[in-house]
Amino acid sequence: MIFVSLGQNIMLKIQENYSLNNLTTIKVGGAASFFARVKNVNELKEALEYAHHHSLNIFVISGGSNVVVSEHGFHGLAIQININGFEVIRENKQQAVLKIGAGEVWDKVVKRAVANGWWGIENLSWIPGRIGACAVQNSGAYGQEISDVIDEIKALEIASGKIKIFKKDKCEYGYRQSVFNTRIAGKFIIVEVVLKLSKKENLKIDYPDVKKYFKERSLEQPSLRQIRQAIIYTRSNKLPDMSKVGNAGSFFKNVMISRSEFQGLVKNLEKNFGQSEADKAVELKEKFKIAGGVKIPTAWLIDICGLKGTQVGYVKVYEKQPLVLVTEPSKATADEVMRLFRKVRQAVYQKTGMKLLPEPRLVGFTDEELEGYFKLDENRYS
Ligand code: EPU
Repeated sequence: MIFVSLGQNIMLKIQENYSLNNLTTIKVGGAASFFARVKNVNELKEALEYAHHHSLNIFVISGGSNVVVSEHGFHGLAIQININGFEVIRENKQQAVLKIGAGEVWDKVVKRAVANGWWGIENLSWIPGRIGACAVQNSGAYGQEISDVIDEIKALEIASGKIKIFKKDKCEYGYRQSVFNTRIAGKFIIVEVVLKLSKKENLKIDYPDVKKYFKERSLEQPSLRQIRQAIIYTRSNKLPDMSKVGNAGSFFKNVMISRSEFQGLVKNLEKNFGQSEADKAVELKEKFKIAGGVKIPTAWLIDICGLKGTQVGYVKVYEKQPLVLVTEPSKATADEVMRLFRKVRQAVYQKTGMKLLPEPRLVGFTDEELEGYFKLDENRYS
């Protein structure tokens, strides 16, 4: 154990050879050479200083629900962001503006918002992880995305140690992406998120599963609480229980393609599955309409390729929602996870021509390993 002085008898604890396996929800992978938990910006700066001084790479982990660590672990300093805080900074008849520490558990934020009658994140109930990570990857579900309610983000620049404010329009939000995981990835660490929630009812219950839930119960104007209930019910029916099996939520991103690529997909579906699946693709394109392109649910592609339940070692494609890979904790390995990823990717590519991409961050893998897991056998494309 190493202690770094923060002055006035405050010490930052840095642990050596710290297992990351249990800090991730997919529960695979090795240890970090060094590990620190930080509770505030000063501790974070101190941890960064330590990494700089010892020429260590850094890896920021929060709830660990969207990350896969390799079996060799991470060579450097892993920093867990435990910065808490929840404060209403402005409020009027229309809205409430909240300042929230990056380490706050996301679902607790949603629960509080719903209890207070604030609209805008109720459909994001039960998403695992912490708010900082949700803001990086623009978590979304059932027709809402966290970017819809972000006002601004406070982040620490690693190189300068300075705090910078990113207004929402500077965050470059897109599907599961922001400036923080694209253009300036690895350069900033989010320490605080400001959300603007509405006090006016704003129902977003058109997403197929949610619509069905309320139709079955003949509820046309559900309350915030009823929406949260509906989402928790829907998610718990489709997604595995994080406390029982390892998983990282959706392992695959949905397919986003251009209109001409969509024509190619339709041809492949016709050839390999027949007219009915080609028609279904057109139907899904309309159902999940997006601006400027086409969104096709990857769950459906994996499903029609007959891959539900496919296994590599102790890792399996989850039957109820094939975007999810489930692991048997303490038995499964990161290599098995990635070989199953490759197997699904190859099979879907062969039958549909679509190149699936992973949603979780992949940490500690060598370039050669990644190349191997992502390599597609083009000869087997039919
Ligand atoms: N489908 C099938 N077979 C299945 C499951 C789904 O054909 O076994 C088809 C159905 O047509 C269904 C469609 O896929 O309507 C979409 O499925 P679902 O509504 O479950 O949503 P998704 O697009 O598969 C996304 C997010 C989830 C989020 C849900 C709900 C991604 C990668 N995943 O899944 O997010 O909860 O929408 O909005 O965007 C996560 O990111 O970890 C996550 C769980």
